[in-house]
Amino acid sequence: MVDIDFLNMPDRDIRELQVLFSAEEIEKRTQELARLIDEEFPQDEPLYVISVLKGSVLFTCDLIKKMKTPIQLEFIKVSSYGNEFQSTGNVTVIDSKIPNLNDQNVLIVDDICDTGHTARKLLDIFNNDYNIKKIKFVTLMNKKCNRVVDVEPDFYGFDIDDKFLVGYGLDYVGFYRNLPFVGWFPN
Ligand code: IMP
Ligand code: MG
Repeated sequence: MVDIDFLNMPDRDIRELQVLFSAEEIEKRTQELARLIDEEFPQDEPLYVISVLKGSVLFTCDLIKKMKTPIQLEFIKVSSYGNEFQSTGNVTVIDSKIPNLNDQNVLIVDDICDTGHTARKLLDIFNNDYNIKKIKFVTLMNKKCNRVVDVEPDFYGFDIDDKFLVGYGLDYVGFYRNLPFVGWFPN
């Protein structure tokens, strides 16, 4: 049972939310990811961190605080049309003011890789638009079992089975992003 009483949506009782990954577990894993990513990129060149809005904001902030590579922070907003639980192949970039990334190192950061449509679309866009030196993709969650597109994050925090997750950036109809842990509603 979750000891939290500041959020209660009409159709979801927050007390039923089960914690899957605590704030401490996320922090520990994020620290490990930061180290792996630092090892992957040169320490004397800028790394363009592209945070995918809105879901990856919390993860991005915590990850970059733990990294030593000099970074430039950019954002891209994508939307995928489907229902609120499942994305479709219809991924559209709805806001992006990304600088020229020719000959740059790039890290795309997302909250979760589910079907893989978002990852595939973003990697295709960046690889088509720029002659990138090195591009890597990191997600906090990896729902490998749901993959419909042949794409894998280069780094990920946790492998999860087919549960709809909320918290730490992940939302249910826009809510719960600010929970410090990742959880799910069992029914
Ligand atoms: P994909 O394009 O199917 O890989 O899904 C990517 C996007 O779907 C994520 O950035 C999330 O916004 C959303 N998504 C997928 N699974 C979940 C989940 O369990 N909880 C909340 N959002 C999810
Ligand atoms: Mg998202």
